[in-house]
Formats: sequence, C-alpha cells, structure tokens
Amino acid sequence: MENSYTNSFAKIYDDIMQEVPYQFWFKYLKDLLSYYNLEVESILELAAGTGNMTEELINLPKIKEIKALDLSSAMLERAENKLSQYELKNLKLEFVQADMTDFKFPGNFDLILSVFDSYNYLLTEKDLKESFSCAAEVLQKDGLFIFDMNSIKRINTIEEKKTMLEGENYSCLWEDIVNTKESVWQVKLQISPEDDKLPAFEEFHTEKGYEIKTIKKLLQQSGFKGVEVYRSFNFFKANDKVDRIYFVAALSEERLAEKKGFMTKLYFSIKNEFKYLLIGLKTIFKQTI
Ligand SMILES: C[S@@+](CC[C@H](N)C(=O)[O-])C[C@H]1O[C@@H](n2cnc3c(N)ncnc32)[C@H](O)[C@@H]1O
Repeated sequence: MENSYTNSFAKIYDDIMQEVPYQFWFKYLKDLLSYYNLEVESILELAAGTGNMTEELINLPKIKEIKALDLSSAMLERAENKLSQYELKNLKLEFVQADMTDFKFPGNFDLILSVFDSYNYLLTEKDLKESFSCAAEVLQKDGLFIFDMNSIKRINTIEEKKTMLEGENYSCLWEDIVNTKESVWQVKLQISPEDDKLPAFEEFHTEKGYEIKTIKKLLQQSGFKGVEVYRSFNFFKANDKVDRIYFVAALSEERLAEKKGFMTKLYFSIKNEFKYLLIGLKTIFKQTI
C-alpha cells in the first residue's frame, strides 16, 4: 500500500465517499449478528480508515471495546478526530496504526470486522493468509470474522476511464486502470489543492480480485473451519459473478450451523434488498436535480 492514503487523500476521503451508505452497511451487519446470535462487546475493526464504520459500531447496545486498526496514520488521525465528538462513557475506543497482515493483541474479540473492500488491498495469497491467521489468533471461540471484498468479476469489469472530482477545496483526477490478466485494479489519483500555486499530489491504489474458493481455502488454512459467503446485502449464497461478497467466518463449523432458519434469512434478505433499492433511487434522484 505504498504511496496511498497519504495526508492529501485522507483529507478529502470523506468528501469523495459521501454517498457511501455506511448506515445501511451497519444495518446489514446487525442482521448478520442477529442471525448468528452474536451479542458484541468487543470489536477489532481492520482497515478502519477515517472511522466511518466505527462511528456506527459505537451504537451497538452492549459494546464495551473497539480497536480500530489501519496502516495509514493520516486516515486514523481523521478517525480519531471524528470520534472525539462523542461522549463514550462505557466504551474503550483505541486507534492502532498497524499492518493487517501482522498484528497481535493480548485479549480476544467477539467480532473482527473489515468493510469497503479493504481486503482487496492485500495483493498476495501470502498476505491474506497472514492476516487471516492473525485474526484467528485474536477471535473469541464463538466470535465471528466478517469482511467484504470486491469480486474478481467486479475488478475485471471496471471500465477504464478518467473522472474529474470537484470538491470545495480541491479537484481530483481519478483514473481507473485494470489489468484483467492479473485481476488487478489500480486507481491513479492526482489531487490538486484549490491554491494552484501548490503542486498536484499523486497517489496509487491497488486492489486485487480473488476467486471465492481461494479466499475460503486461505481462511480454512488459517484456522477458520466455518465459512459462509453472502451476496451483499442479503443472505443468499454468493458466487464469483456478484459484485461484492460478504465472508462470515468462524473458528468452528458448528458456530455457523443454521441459527434462525430459512424464513429469517429470507426476511432479512428482502428487507435489505428493498432498502438498498431505495438508497439507489435516492442517489439517482439527487444526481438528476
Ligand atoms: C477503501 S479504504 C476503507 C476504509 C474504511 N474501512 C471505510 O469503510 O471507509 C481501505 C483502507 O485500507 C487500509 N489498508 C490498506 N492496506 C492495509 C494494510 N495492509 N493494513 C491495514 N490497513 C490497510 C487503507 O489505509 C484504507 O484506510
């Protein structure tokens, strides 16, 4: 992740991502937790970025501890500022600058979470396996490890193009570059501050797509005996053709054995699909007015 998520991008990240429906993602997460009967008291959030999901997680009713980890100190600094506005009485919130391929903590967590395709930033199977093994070491026996990824199909079908993003104090030239042979998507960003006397800043982001079977294999090799894959944002089984995949992993197979049955899955799926449709319509409506 060299030369990405520097201060220049961290500063404008929230503005660029303002349409990302974190609140909706949080609702889906709550449905997953409810389905698997997990009352969460402690969370390790991997690649927490500027804390947009952390800001939702603090609302979990029984939450007592959150560790938000990210490699970028610039992103974490934003997260820390954002979360400092809340009076968190019974919650220990900590920000940790670390690599998600190499971490260790004394305690165990009920939930290890990572959202917004942060796992696609790990570009080798070795890195993924190292990260999964670290996660397995710090997960409670009955805890869950939940993360999303862009599918291999999504990465390979991204259209190569340049887009100019204009903010209040910046402009940002966003260029998508795709290598379908390697299933690698690069974003080249040229960020120009409002003050055109200052030079433009360039950074690269790289994501890699993996087949579901590869991720499942690596999870299993790292100690996760139970793995379910869902299409975002429902409870139907994902395949490599959907865009975003949610992985739900547990240390034992039994932990993921059906908890609330098919009808609950169907109810959660319909509810979330409907909400997602509304969010899509709202975005289209905003863009047309
Ligand atoms: C697309 S952003 C997502 C951030 C946040 N999860 C969100 O939903 O807004 C990807 C994040 O992954 C972090 N990241 C990338 N590689 C990492 C690594 N090896 N270890 C820890 N964080 C990493 C980046 O710093 C960045 O904050």
